[in-house]
Amino acid sequence: MRDDIKEEFNKIKNIVDRHLDEYVQVIYPESIYESMKYSLLAGGKRLRPVMAVETSLKLGAHIEEILPTACAIEMLHCQSLIHDDLPCMDNDDYRRGKLTNHKVYGEATATLAGDALLSYAPKIIIDKTPKSISSDVILCVLNEFFNAAGVEGIISGQIVDLDSEKKKISKETLEFIYEYKTACLFKLAVRSGAIIAGADEKIVNQLTLFAQYFGHAFQIYDDVLDVTATIEEIGKTPGKDEKVEKSTYVAMYGLEQAKNQILFLCNNACDILKTINIKSDILMEIVSDISKGIQ
Ligand code: IPE
Ligand code: IPE
Ligand code: MG
Ligand code: MG
Ligand code: MG
Repeated sequence: MRDDIKEEFNKIKNIVDRHLDEYVQVIYPESIYESMKYSLLAGGKRLRPVMAVETSLKLGAHIEEILPTACAIEMLHCQSLIHDDLPCMDNDDYRRGKLTNHKVYGEATATLAGDALLSYAPKIIIDKTPKSISSDVILCVLNEFFNAAGVEGIISGQIVDLDSEKKKISKETLEFIYEYKTACLFKLAVRSGAIIAGADEKIVNQLTLFAQYFGHAFQIYDDVLDVTATIEEIGKTPGKDEKVEKSTYVAMYGLEQAKNQILFLCNNACDILKTINIKSDILMEIVSDISKGIQ
């Protein structure tokens, strides 16, 4: 990412980090709050909340109007990671360069920390969104949140992902997995950003398409990194997908085709951004970081 744009990105990221820390206060029973904070503040890239904030700002909202929702989306993402790492799911020992939640706090606490983040997140939207945002808009954002978090969203992606291990699946099934386990949260980020800013339906729909292309590219990139990167680079154990015979784009079509597909999807995502005329260097650079990452 270009230095000046990275600086802008980090400005938003730091505000998100500070709010995440403030929103979750450690009170009795301390162990659950500590375990929530352990994963929440473990140093993720914060792509989803930054995308929500940036979209909203570029469409005319004030940062305090979108921050509670942006942080809620990061909490949901963090919950999905804690549960994704559990022994009954992907069984991973490292996340964000640290031991996974269950490795530190045990499986029961990690499961509950995920549940706690998932239910705390929409409360943050309700309790912390300023009065300048109408109840109708908040309801609309909550509806988006629950769609992405629930069985019509990430949960369906995760179940099909797990069911597809050690199996030959169709291209459509693979696309279903990527759409629901990954693209869903990026769609949630830009859609809520736009809804809070009062954008019209046409813009919301175009942003949805942008996030869809980006989300698919992002997941294929994650699958590529699982094969090509080191633990220091990704903060999680590489080589895991092959070990458990995950059905990924890389496993099904090979590295070269996966990289070509990432480029194709990133180009489409950029083209859509240009047509919306949202003029966001941050969104553009987030996409181009991925296409540059594979070269
Ligand atoms: C990891 O997401 C899960 C996937 C959808 C591949 P990120 O790569 O955004 O993880 P963090 O938030 O930076 O840790
Ligand atoms: C990402 O799938 C989707 C999630 C809901 C976490 P992965 O299982 O590939 O993500 P990583 O590689 O563990 O981050
Ligand atoms: Mg997984
Ligand atoms: Mg995983
Ligand atoms: Mg992965």
